[in-house]
Amino acid sequence: MAERYIVTSALPYVNNIPHLGNLIGSVLPADVYSRWLRMKGKEVIYICGTDEHGTPITVSARKEGVTPRELADKYYAIIKDCFERFDIKFDNFSRTTKPIHYEMTTHFFTKLHENGYIHKEDMNLPFCPTCEHFLPDRYVEGICPNCGAEGARGDQCDACQTVHDPEDLEEPYCVTCHTKPEWRITAHWFLDLPKLAPELKTWLEAKTDWPANARNFPLAWIKEGLKPRAITRDIEWGVPVPLEDAEGKVIYVWFDAPIGYISSTIEWCENEGRTDEWKKYWYNDEAKLIHFLGKDNVPFHTIIWPGMLIGMREDFNLPHYIASFEYLNFEGQKFSKSRGVGIWIDQALDIYPVDYWRYALLANAPQTRDTDFSMAELKRRINDELADIMGNFVHRTLTFTHRFFGGKIPERGPLAEADQELLATIEKARQKIDARMDVYDLKGALHEVIMLAKEGNRFFNDRAPWKTMKTDPVAAGTAINLCAQVVGALAVVSSPFIPRSAQLMWEAVGSEGLAEERAWDEVVTVEAGTAVPEPTPLFVKIEDENKKKKAAKSKSVVKETKKKEGGKPMITFDEFEKIDLRVAVIKTAEQVEGTKKLLKLTVDVGEEEPRTLVAGIADQYKAEDLPGRRIVVLINLKPAKIRGIISNGMLLAAEVGEDVGLLTIDKELDAGAKVL
Ligand code: 2FM
Ligand code: ZN
Repeated sequence: MAERYIVTSALPYVNNIPHLGNLIGSVLPADVYSRWLRMKGKEVIYICGTDEHGTPITVSARKEGVTPRELADKYYAIIKDCFERFDIKFDNFSRTTKPIHYEMTTHFFTKLHENGYIHKEDMNLPFCPTCEHFLPDRYVEGICPNCGAEGARGDQCDACQTVHDPEDLEEPYCVTCHTKPEWRITAHWFLDLPKLAPELKTWLEAKTDWPANARNFPLAWIKEGLKPRAITRDIEWGVPVPLEDAEGKVIYVWFDAPIGYISSTIEWCENEGRTDEWKKYWYNDEAKLIHFLGKDNVPFHTIIWPGMLIGMREDFNLPHYIASFEYLNFEGQKFSKSRGVGIWIDQALDIYPVDYWRYALLANAPQTRDTDFSMAELKRRINDELADIMGNFVHRTLTFTHRFFGGKIPERGPLAEADQELLATIEKARQKIDARMDVYDLKGALHEVIMLAKEGNRFFNDRAPWKTMKTDPVAAGTAINLCAQVVGALAVVSSPFIPRSAQLMWEAVGSEGLAEERAWDEVVTVEAGTAVPEPTPLFVKIEDENKKKKAAKSKSVVKETKKKEGGKPMITFDEFEKIDLRVAVIKTAEQVEGTKKLLKLTVDVGEEEPRTLVAGIADQYKAEDLPGRRIVVLINLKPAKIRGIISNGMLLAAEVGEDVGLLTIDKELDAGAKVL
């Protein structure tokens, strides 16, 4: 029987639209992980929904001048739509205001109460005399008792992530009117964490494979001594406390929210007509429960939530793994709507296509440390990796197939050693990706995907089918056939990360159906004779805004220059003919020692031996990006010695100020072809 998994991402509050940091902090990685598991043939459900109770919602509703329900309805619709547009493939996306959730939360509270893990105590709580109500959680702020940060909320400090009681806050004030609160006695119900601590400790100690931030913090808190935690509140919005002497009180949002994982699973089962099957996911170690979340959610998922599950004494599964993410910053700062820092998920797709964001965010996932994300980094990732490596490889394979093989994948001839190696590389790449995914290193896995495309390019360059086409067409056909196998494999292994582009790659080699429905471990075979569509670029490079501006400026500079100097004098065709320009394929490139600007290149210009050139382009092009490019070289220029190296020819480039662009050829013309 297939292994069973429940993958969850933290339920977003319905008081705002998530930003890109929230997306990469749990929802997107959980999507990738569950897509991979599905392709691996596991029985997996990816569960989420919106977190609709608590003071985050009531405080925001008051600010927007609407009821909590109205606020929740509005943001639930927006958030659900945004996630869909980001191709997040939930099995169910529920809401914590659904009746099934109230039912399940009531069951949890009642059972934990019956089992002796919930008790009543009087509390001294802040009460605002101006607003005339108690000030739970976000209604009160002050100085954090743990780290001294200002503006810490009543229940948790954003700066140090510790959870605390409002009584512990120093210099508290009401967030609505800034009045210093009075303290009043009111009864509340507490989860008896000290009673649960020994079992929590034993369970956590065994989780040696968890990220440090998910294990060390909770173990340190247990060591310090857990305190009972109040799980009811004096507000009107929430699940009512199911006890006679608790009228007017509701259950704390952090008690009901994680139960949302279960109620959303139950809803999924009911929608699927598989009533009761949810139990196979939640009980008796029959499924692995994997929570993806941001580091601020760690205390709730590693102490309170598992404590609740243990205290139920119903053999609930405990979290198998906590994939906790650090924070993503934006252009060196924290995301902040008020300060206009960051991009929100409802805006992002108006700027770039979905896979650009998925790729760039996953490649910069804050897995082990807070990570900065910038638009320059996004551009670099898209242009240098998606477009130049992956897109280029797919494009040249297809272009060649059309130009030389009538748009059909050519037959394979006898395989040379390099051909065998390429096939082995595909298999190895899958294994490397698996090894990274097994330890939840999604960023590492994505890197391996790109490395496979890079290997494809390297193979294409080495086998040089544009050359062998004339001398050994069988070898050229074999090379293209093998490149098509790499494209097919790339479609499968990139599918969890960039599903739309993966599907395009899949179709690019004439495959039918959905790449995401392919069995991950099955070898992809693109049959010879398969008709492939006309190639269209998979990824369009992002243009540099600065370059656009510079180009606009440079046009006027050129005009002025012409006016002043009248351009160069006319020449005859015979004079032009003296210039010998050739197509050249760059073989190697390296920085000239002791210089910042100079690169030493060897280029194939169709002669027996490659030529050496020295070019001042190192500040514009990275050496490792150049091999394989087809450029134009002036080959009958007198050799010159530059920094001790004989430069035998000159590459052509366009230049505006510091900005340099190489002249390249837009077809796979042979090295040495004349440029006229
Ligand atoms: O921090 C948050 O945004 C919470 N709404 C996460 C809840 S996760 C789970 F417990 F539901
Ligand atoms: Zn007040």
